Amino acid sequence: MRVTMDLMRGWQVASGKWTLMMMDGPYHRNRVSINTRVRVHRPDLTTLWPWLLRCPGARTDHDRVKLLVGIWRAARRETGKLWPQCSVSAIAGMEIDYTNKLVLAPMVRVGTLPFRLLAAEYGADITYGEEIIDHKILKCERRINDVLGTIDVVEKGTDSVVFRTCSEERNRVVFQMGTSDAVRALRAAQILCKDVAAVDINMGCPKSFSISGGMGAALLTKPDLIHDILTTLKRNLNTPVTCKIRLLKSPQDTVELARRIEKTGVSALAVHGRKVADRPRDPAKWSEIADVVAAVSIPVIANGDVFEYEDFERIKVATGASSVMVARGALWNASMFSPKGKLPWEDVKREYVRKSILWDNDIKSTKHTLKEMIMHYSCLEFPEGKAVIKSETLADLARHYGEDNYYELINKSRFSFGGSR
Ligand SMILES: Cc1cc2nc3c(=O)[nH]c(=O)nc-3n(C[C@H](O)[C@H](O)[C@H](O)COP(=O)(O)O)c2cc1C
Repeated sequence: MRVTMDLMRGWQVASGKWTLMMMDGPYHRNRVSINTRVRVHRPDLTTLWPWLLRCPGARTDHDRVKLLVGIWRAARRETGKLWPQCSVSAIAGMEIDYTNKLVLAPMVRVGTLPFRLLAAEYGADITYGEEIIDHKILKCERRINDVLGTIDVVEKGTDSVVFRTCSEERNRVVFQMGTSDAVRALRAAQILCKDVAAVDINMGCPKSFSISGGMGAALLTKPDLIHDILTTLKRNLNTPVTCKIRLLKSPQDTVELARRIEKTGVSALAVHGRKVADRPRDPAKWSEIADVVAAVSIPVIANGDVFEYEDFERIKVATGASSVMVARGALWNASMFSPKGKLPWEDVKREYVRKSILWDNDIKSTKHTLKEMIMHYSCLEFPEGKAVIKSETLADLARHYGEDNYYELINKSRFSFGGSR
C-alpha cells in the first residue's frame, strides 16, 4: 500500500508499499518523500520514534507527532479497525525505477540544484549531480538551510556549499561521488545518502586529477576494488547504489566488467559509449552498449551522443537499454527533455538564471554553465559573453539579463520571512 501524506491535507492510500510524504516549508509547495516503507502491525512508539527522528521532512517534534498520527490514521483506514496496531516494520530505501527514464548526466560545475531542477521541469526523470570527491565531502557537514528550504552539505567552518538539494528533487536526484576507497566512500555517502534517491560512483572520468588519485576511469582496471567499493556501499546504505563506466578496450572486457558489477547488487549501470582515450567528438559506440545490455539483467542506462528528443528512442532501440542519459545535449538546451520540442535556448538560459537566483547558486558554477551555453550557440567575445565573464555576483548577472526585479523580489521575500522560507 502506498500512503501519501501531506501535513495540511492528511493521508491518501494509493498502492503497494507505503511512501510517506509531507509538505515542506512555509510555502507548502514542495513535497518531501520520507523514504520508507511501513507495514501495519502493532503500535510501537519505540520503533517509530528513531525513524521519525531521521526523517528529513520532520524537523520538529510537532512534525513528528503529526506523522505518527498520520501513520496511525492510515492504518485505521486500511485495516478498518477503530484501534489498529501499527509499527514501522521495514525501513528500506525507496528503489528508483530505471525503466524508460530520461536521465540528466553528471556534469562538473553544471549539475547543481538549479540546473537539475531546470532539466526536471522540462522532463528529465532522474537528475545526477556533478561528481564530488569523497575527500571533499568528508570535510563537510550537513546543514538545513531554513532560508532557502534546502539541505546543504557545507565545508566545515565555512559557508562554502559543496552540495545543495531540496525536497522537490528528493526522489530523483543522484549523488555522484569520486572515490578510490570503499571505507572512505561509505563515510562520505553516509553524510547525505538519506537526502538523495541514489548514490553513484564515477568510474569513467579520464581527467588526470581523477586518474592520479586512483578514481574515475582508473577504477576500470581494478575490478576487485570496484567490487569492494560497491559491495561496501550496498551492505551499509539503505539508498540505491549505481555506477557509471566507460567502454573498455574490447567489447568482451566491457561485458566482463559489467557482469562483475552486476554481481555487487547495484541497482543500475550507466554506460558511456566511449573509451578512455576517445574524445567527446568521437562517435559514441552504441553497439558496444548493446553488448552490455545483452549480457546483464540489471537496468543499463545508455549514454553518448543524444542531442534531440528523437535520439532517446533511437539509442534505446539500438542498445536495448532501459533508460537514456544525456550530458552535452542537455547542457546546451535543457528543454531537449521535453516531448513538445526544444524551446529557444535564450528562454532556457533566462530560466536557468532565475533558478540560480532562487536557489542562490554558486556564482562560479552559474557563470561556467552560462559560458558553456553561450560558447555553443554564440561566442564569448560578444557583449553577452563578456558581461557574464565580468559578473562577480548573481546580482550582476541578474542586471545583465534584465532580471533585477526578480532578484530584488527573491531577496526581499527571504528577508521578510525572517530567514525562514
Ligand atoms: C561539462 C561536462 C562535465 C562532465 N562531468 C562529469 C562528471 O562529473 N561525472 C561523470 O561521470 N561524467 C561527467 N561528464 C561526462 C558525461 O556525464 C557524459 O558521460 C559524456 O559527456 C557523454 O555524454 P554526451 O554524449 O551526452 O555528452 C561530463 C561531461 C561534460 C560535457
